[in-house]
Amino acid sequence: MPHHETGEALFCLRGVYMDQIVIQGGRVLKGEVRISGAKNAALPILISSLLADGWNTYSNVPDLKDIQSTKLLLSSLGASIKSDGDIIKINGGGMCNHEASYDLVRKMRASILVLGPLVARLKKARVSLPGGCAIGARPINLHLKGLARLGASIELKHGYVEAYADHLTGNEIYLDIPTVTGTENLMMAAVLARGATVLRNAAREPEVVALADVLIKMGAKIKGVGTSVITIEGVSSLKPVSVSIMPDRIEAGTFMVSAALTGGDVTLLNCEPDHLKAVIHKLRLTGARITVEDKLIRIVGADEIASVDIKTQPYPGFPTDMQAQFMVLMSVARGFSIISETIFENRFIHVSELKRMGADIKITGNTAMITGKPALSGAPVMATDLRASASLILAGLSAVGTTEINRVYHLDRGYETIEKKFAKLGAAIKRVKI
Ligand code: EPU
Repeated sequence: MPHHETGEALFCLRGVYMDQIVIQGGRVLKGEVRISGAKNAALPILISSLLADGWNTYSNVPDLKDIQSTKLLLSSLGASIKSDGDIIKINGGGMCNHEASYDLVRKMRASILVLGPLVARLKKARVSLPGGCAIGARPINLHLKGLARLGASIELKHGYVEAYADHLTGNEIYLDIPTVTGTENLMMAAVLARGATVLRNAAREPEVVALADVLIKMGAKIKGVGTSVITIEGVSSLKPVSVSIMPDRIEAGTFMVSAALTGGDVTLLNCEPDHLKAVIHKLRLTGARITVEDKLIRIVGADEIASVDIKTQPYPGFPTDMQAQFMVLMSVARGFSIISETIFENRFIHVSELKRMGADIKITGNTAMITGKPALSGAPVMATDLRASASLILAGLSAVGTTEINRVYHLDRGYETIEKKFAKLGAAIKRVKI
């Protein structure tokens, strides 16, 4: 049974499993939507609180299931936490427990990010192995190899990673793949190591840059942020900080696709257009008119959507986290398009559900061939992971008739009140508690 099924059973018991999102498709979306703080920036940044004693203050934190899981994880390690709306204060000074349990890690893979900080500060860590998930095997071998290069001894026992280092020592680390959380984990370990660490083939995602900026503010010495070679000169201690979480580029991209898909006119507020260049480029090729101003993007959908090919790549390439949403757009475009997924080996799980809504998609290996149809037709569908769920919402918004999306807890992990935001833009969408 896939790993995520266990968590599923838990949510089922709590009743969340039963929530449904019901959409009456065909409305043209219009208006303004405020983009929330980025999930994938917030998670490592909240975890970086473990690296210093004293109260850190984080603002613009999105209200998501994954943030709740992170708070549970951090308090289980001994951190103190206070929350007030979108502001979370965390004091990592009380950290005393070096174990991240299976129960916590299985709910959220990003929990593995505590490994670096735990070894750096407590000299030891025992963290449950995350296991696979719906979109692929997602090993953490590069996190572990990197930590070993910094001098940690690492063993895998009873489903846990056990790591120990009297002290970490800087070293050269080459990452076979520019892993996002791997780069983040190793940065957090290296900031308190003795001497210099060079991370080669590091990830360049904006979320990695955001974490590095926070670490620098805490007193870390990091150079090359945003390039594939990051150099970190270890320091003996860090201080707490006050920071705001950057806007979520994937949430922004999802709303942009919704405007393109419904021939709408949507303005995104509080977003970072610089992080969305690949998505903006591809959407313009589909015929959408996009204007960009400082923290604002306006997108006006075309009468007819043109077919455009995409290939997912590490940043600054087209993000894998936008692949499923873009595929929905191509399902109703004029002509034929090809989407190649190069990051995860199993990220086409939304395809079978889209086909049930009438999409014409053929898969060969990591390539999807899509022949656009005039319209999709509403149907009951099942969400399987976070971005697949977002794609089903988009499909429902453009489809003729009613779409019922089940297992919406995947959405709650990563989108803040998505149904309310779409309703404000004029969508006929509601959450139904059964
Ligand atoms: N990989 C390895 N070994 C490793 C680490 C990664 O082989 O030790 C492979 C993965 O299996 C994958 C590729 O490298 O094939 C890239 O994975 P990466 O490590 O970059 O992904 P991640 O850090 O686990 C983050 C995001 C994902 C996003 C990916 C790619 C967070 C918390 N998660 O995952 O976000 O898709 O980067 O950009 O930052 C989502 O938000 O829905 C989501 C899945």
